Amino acid sequence: MTQRPTARIYRGTPGNLARLARALRRGELVAVPTETVYGLAANALDARACRRIFVAKGRPATDPLIVHIHSLAQLSEVAVPNAAALRLARQFWPGPLTLVLPKKATVPDTVTAGLPSVAVRMPSHALLRRLLKLCGRPLAAPSANHFGSVSPTTAEHVRDGLSRKIRHILEGGASSIGIESTIVDLRDPRRPRLLRPGAIARADLERALCVRVRSMRPGHLSRDHAQIAPGLLQRHYSPKTPVTLHRKISPAAVQRRPLSEAWLFVAQPRQLKGDNIFWLDPHGKLQGAARNLFRLLREIDANAFDRIHIERATGEPKGLAVAINDRLRRAAAAPSGQSR
Ligand code: TXA
Ligand code: MG
Repeated sequence: MTQRPTARIYRGTPGNLARLARALRRGELVAVPTETVYGLAANALDARACRRIFVAKGRPATDPLIVHIHSLAQLSEVAVPNAAALRLARQFWPGPLTLVLPKKATVPDTVTAGLPSVAVRMPSHALLRRLLKLCGRPLAAPSANHFGSVSPTTAEHVRDGLSRKIRHILEGGASSIGIESTIVDLRDPRRPRLLRPGAIARADLERALCVRVRSMRPGHLSRDHAQIAPGLLQRHYSPKTPVTLHRKISPAAVQRRPLSEAWLFVAQPRQLKGDNIFWLDPHGKLQGAARNLFRLLREIDANAFDRIHIERATGEPKGLAVAINDRLRRAAAAPSGQSR
């Protein structure tokens, strides 16, 4: 039996970008770098191309995709913006913010999982912006990983996960933010709702909009809400190794446990050393912690520990601590949705 070819990683040369833009226009998939995590992109206006994303990722058709745009003109091609959306767009785009708005008929139902709304984001990564411009189409792109596994923050992560499912990966270095975008539902601009916390904090949105932004907490969602915000499934960013989340970890607790268990802290722990001790940022800075989170979870996961113990993030900026702890809570959620 012939094996499918493995994915090729392309450097972002002008020739390669032109070639990948043509591939996208032909309906092929291209994994692309963004400032948050790598995405698996297809022409957002081509339903057949977008169906390939769901197949490659093993993603249920009920989980809608984010549409990436190059300009504000493209926003009105895919969505019906309101004044609140334009205000956030002017302040935070290009950047790690996704707006949920009523959709235009040009966007196929495949992209929005049949919802009357569409999630839109203008990314800031320079190579992706060039590709979006060359391609001249909005690009639908969820994170470029198998459904339910840890999001990729390098081209190699994408290749490790999807190598035989896709053919093209654009190399754009390690993602500078490292966790997925903040998602805010703005269909009713008087009652904005935070669907997923990210690098842009709820307080930043409230300051820009001058209204309260309510949080939708996973685990507190009714079935209706789960359909409004399908990606809020509790378990979503999961390593294979079981994860236990702790408010605080004392060195004494670590010393009592077997070496087959790994311990992950935001900052380098002063009294602890060993092959099973990890930290996200040497100085405990939350920007560094977010950038390294998914890479380190992958590395620890590859080491066959029996369990990963993780200490929750605290400190400033508070919004980033909220976003990191959201990902940690999901990593720690058991398949049933029960914490363990
Ligand atoms: O940073 C990011 O947002 C990355 C990069 C690639 O842009 N994308 C990303 O996509 O993280 P992902 O795999 O998380 O999937 C998009 C999520 C869905 O799971 C869902 O929660 C939300 O976006 N979403 C998409 N369309 C929606 C809609 N119409 N209403 C509510 N939520 C929606
Ligand atoms: Mg994802």
